Amino acid sequence: MVEQKEQLYEGKAKKVYATSDPDLLIVDYKDDATAFNGLKKGQIVGKGVINNRMTNYLMQKLEAEGIETHYVEELSDRRTLVKNVKIVPLEVIMRNVVAGSLSKRTGLAEGEKPSMPVLELYYKSDELGDPMINEDHALAFGWATRDELDVISATARKVNAILTEFFAGVGVDLIDFKIEFGRYKGRVILADEISPDTCRFWDSKTKEKLDKDRFRRDMGGVEGAYQEMMRRIGLK
Ligand code: TMP
Repeated sequence: MVEQKEQLYEGKAKKVYATSDPDLLIVDYKDDATAFNGLKKGQIVGKGVINNRMTNYLMQKLEAEGIETHYVEELSDRRTLVKNVKIVPLEVIMRNVVAGSLSKRTGLAEGEKPSMPVLELYYKSDELGDPMINEDHALAFGWATRDELDVISATARKVNAILTEFFAGVGVDLIDFKIEFGRYKGRVILADEISPDTCRFWDSKTKEKLDKDRFRRDMGGVEGAYQEMMRRIGLK
């Protein structure tokens, strides 16, 4: 049995603990919610449990399709044992439909469909508000190597294809999502979370938003949207 040790880190949505095995960590999902780089703060009751369980379900699905992830074992409703990766300081966003900051940056209407999925890179820095960058920046400033970027973009596109098909099957359009990668024993593997905090989910028929945009935009019905996504996936 792996034992939980000292807290290493507390982020906006999760706490991370060391364990008795140096190769493993425990993540503990909170109900705390922030938006706009922490400017807006609140709670989404039950979110920690939902994000933990949904992330683990999706990570296992991706593993079954040949994508290595940091997932090891769900320990409780909010806590999961994961591989002790060193996070690559990049946020990788895949977009299938125009929304959010892409709509703001380009003036294209939310809901417009690009002719192909769009991959974006952001530099992970709370102080800078996660600025958008490109591959040259990542290479030139040593944030990732050429080989790592190749693995990251091929994996991100494969994750997008698998998740888009899966969510379509439960009546949900996967509009866009953010993923992160970590270095582990010489490999770059999928890490962090995949949840309504980090994805945009729209009901395929009504286009109702079933994700954190309801919190970001003060739309109400936040908890209900998260619960509805669990129900769609068959987790409740
Ligand atoms: P954006 O349109 O605001 O750039 O967001 C794109 C996607 O990334 C959306 O699904 C929400 C997710 N996201 C995060 O997971 N964390 C963040 O800090 C931001 C800004 C977006």
